[in-house]
Amino acid sequence: MSKYGIPYMGSKAKMCDQLVGIFPRAMHFYDVFGGGFAVTHAMLALRPNDYAHFHFNEIRPGVTQLIQDAIAGKYSYDRFKPEWISREDFMHRKDHDAYVKLIWSFGNNGEDYLFGSEIETQKRSLHQAVIFNEFDAFAKETLGLDSFRPGYSVYEKRMHLRNRVRVLGSKRLDLQRLEQLERLQQLERLQQLERLQQLEQLERLQMTALDYRQVKIEPDSIVYCDPPYAGTADYGNAFDTQNFLDWAAYLSEPVFISEYEITDSRFKSVAAIAKMQRLTSASRTVKQEKVFANKRGYELWFDTKTRRTG
Ligand SMILES: C[S@@+](CC[C@H](N)C(=O)[O-])C[C@H]1O[C@@H](n2cnc3c(N)ncnc32)[C@H](O)[C@@H]1O
Repeated sequence: MSKYGIPYMGSKAKMCDQLVGIFPRAMHFYDVFGGGFAVTHAMLALRPNDYAHFHFNEIRPGVTQLIQDAIAGKYSYDRFKPEWISREDFMHRKDHDAYVKLIWSFGNNGEDYLFGSEIETQKRSLHQAVIFNEFDAFAKETLGLDSFRPGYSVYEKRMHLRNRVRVLGSKRLDLQRLEQLERLQQLERLQQLERLQQLEQLERLQMTALDYRQVKIEPDSIVYCDPPYAGTADYGNAFDTQNFLDWAAYLSEPVFISEYEITDSRFKSVAAIAKMQRLTSASRTVKQEKVFANKRGYELWFDTKTRRTG
């Protein structure tokens, strides 16, 4: 399970360990297109003493609140018993409830309901059994039980389902897609954020929900940007990459940008990180994702690197 942030489309969670080592030290660290919080989370965990203040920003309504709620423990299974969100609930609620929008959508894309209609009823049946101990005939047959004895954690119940489907599923192809309760796995990631409460550096974290141009950048900062890829409208609004590059080039503070390619000569590449891409359920490919810097960023990065390597 990924260690950083909430489940989020385009999350940097898998490459954070490499990414966060690139940034030079400063007084402030900004994660301006913060999304699912993976990068800020990794910075708080891995580089707590290299910055005095951390700033997370994400323009999408509700995402910042969802992360704050997760840190505050709202999604802990002790108090949060996730109700089943049907396709209709999803359509009605997704535009004003970030939890429903992100956690109950396919690939966390915020738009399409998580399950195909052919499997929805069965997923619901197993969800009700695992969370509420309510067993219908399908749940009884699949889980091989009439109910769970008290004392099982949600995780243990999930594992029971997984093992059972693995055994039955070798003969019953129709069961194989039921092995995972994806939503519950994602909720476990939301729950993990609760541990951040123990981090003393949380006091040094500020969260905002602004357009990137409205974020006030203090002197002595590192500005990290992970904008929507050029030419996509993946997060609900068409993103103007040219405007963004002009903003980043004119900023006097060091800016670091994640992208596959930037051909604009005002930016130079400082790192490349291999990224596994899933094409279909069976095939994968490796793509290089790069980090580019504006002029000030490049100078500072180069300086730091030269000092490190002596
Ligand atoms: C690639 S995602 C960031 C993912 C993030 N680094 C993570 O690891 O989860 C890009 C984010 O930029 C946000 N965004 C789009 N336009 C924006 C704007 N004008 N100002 C601030 N954020 C914006 C999107 O909502 C999206 O969450």
